[in-house]
Amino acid sequence: MLGQLPERAPDKILNIMRLFAEDTRPGKIDLGVGVFRDAAGRTPVMAVVKTAEARLLERQQTKGYIALAGDPEFHAAMRGLVLGAAVAADRVAALATPGGTGAVRQCFEAARLANPDVRVLLPEPSWPNHASILDTMGIAWASYRYYDAATGGLDRAGMLEDLARTGVGDLVLLHGCCHNPTGADPQPADWAEIAMVLGQTGAVPMVDMAYQGFGDGLEADAAGPRLLAETLPEMLLAVSGSKNFGLYRERVGMALAVCATPAEATRAQALLAWLNRQAYAFPPDHGARLVTDILTDPDLRTSWTTELSAMRELMNGNRRALAQALQAESGSDRFGFIAGQRGMFSLIGADPAQVAAMRDEDALYMIGDGRINLAGLTPETIPRAARIIARHLR
Ligand code: PLP
Ligand code: LMR
Repeated sequence: MLGQLPERAPDKILNIMRLFAEDTRPGKIDLGVGVFRDAAGRTPVMAVVKTAEARLLERQQTKGYIALAGDPEFHAAMRGLVLGAAVAADRVAALATPGGTGAVRQCFEAARLANPDVRVLLPEPSWPNHASILDTMGIAWASYRYYDAATGGLDRAGMLEDLARTGVGDLVLLHGCCHNPTGADPQPADWAEIAMVLGQTGAVPMVDMAYQGFGDGLEADAAGPRLLAETLPEMLLAVSGSKNFGLYRERVGMALAVCATPAEATRAQALLAWLNRQAYAFPPDHGARLVTDILTDPDLRTSWTTELSAMRELMNGNRRALAQALQAESGSDRFGFIAGQRGMFSLIGADPAQVAAMRDEDALYMIGDGRINLAGLTPETIPRAARIIARHLR
C-alpha cells in the first residue's frame, strides 16, 4: 500500500530553507523563509518569553489536559489582542490550534461544514499554502486581483471589482496586515470599501492574521479586521503567534468565528472543539500559556510591546536602507516601493531564472517568485544584497 503513495514535491518556501542550510559558501544571505532576524542575523527567544517561561516553570503543577478548544483565558487574551472591543465577546467562538496554519485549516473545515459548496477567494498572489491546503481538502478556490506590480501597491479598482462579483456562500480570504508575499496592504479607506462590498454581496471574510505588530503597530495593524468585525455580521479569523511572539516552533494559533448571534456562537464553539477532537484532540498549550501570561500581566505586556516595536523598527529600517541602496545601485526609483510597504516581505520583481542565478552565482537566497524577507538583511549585508539584485535585474 505505502508503495503507492504519490510523489510530492517539497514545499517551495521550506525547500529554500534547506538549500540555504546546505550551502557552505561564506557570506551567503538568506532572504527566504519568513523568520525574524535581529541585526546580528539571529532569531532570538524574546526576553519577555524567557521571563514568562521561567515563571511558568516555577508555577506550573500539572500538565494535565485542559479543554479541546484550549484555555478560555487564552481565547479571551487573543480575542482582545486582535479584535479589541470591535464585537461583543458572546458573538465570538474561539479555538486554540497548532500555529496559524492549524487555524487556517480549521477555518476552512468549519466553512465547508457550514457550506459544502463553499468557494474561497484568494488574493493574487497569496501565501502559497492557502491554495495548497484548499487543493488538499478539495475545496474550490479562485483568485481576486490584489497586487499592482507596476506600483508595488494595491490594485484597488481590480480588487473591488472582483470582490463585487462574490456572493452568498463565498469565503473571501484577506491578510489582516503585512500581506505575504507582497507587503502591500489595504489602507483604512480601502478596508471600508471592502467591508461595504462584502456587506452588499453577502460573502463572508476570513482574515489571516500572522503578523500583527510587524507593520505599523498592534492597534493600527488590527484596524482593518476590526472594521470588518464591526460592520459585517460574520467573519472567520486565523491568528498566528509564531512571528509576533517569536514562538515559531511552539505552534501558537487561534481560529476565531465571529457569529451573527450569541446562540450561533455557542453552536460554533461546540463545532470548533469537535474539529480539534477529530484532528489531534487537544491543542498545544505551552506557547499559548506564555502568550496568555504575556498579554494579561501588565509588566510582561509592556515588555512585549517594547520588544515588538524594536523588531518592527528594525524591519522598517531595513526597508528604507534597502530601497536607498537599490536606488544608488540601479540609478532609478524602480525599487522605491519597498520603503513604503509593510511587514516582512516584498516582491522585487525577479523571475524564477533571475532568482536561481542570484542563488547559484551570488549565494543570495529568496523565494522563487522574487519574495525577499526584509528581516533577513543586516546593515552589513544590505549593500551587497542591493548590488546583487541591481545587477541581476538590470
Ligand atoms: N498565514 C500566513 C500568511 C503566514 O505567512 C504564515 C506563516 O507564518 C501563517 C499563516 C502560519 O504560520 P504558523 O503556522 O507558523 O503560525
Ligand atoms: C513564510 O511565508 O515564509 C512563512 O510564513 C513560513 C511558512 O510557513 O511558509
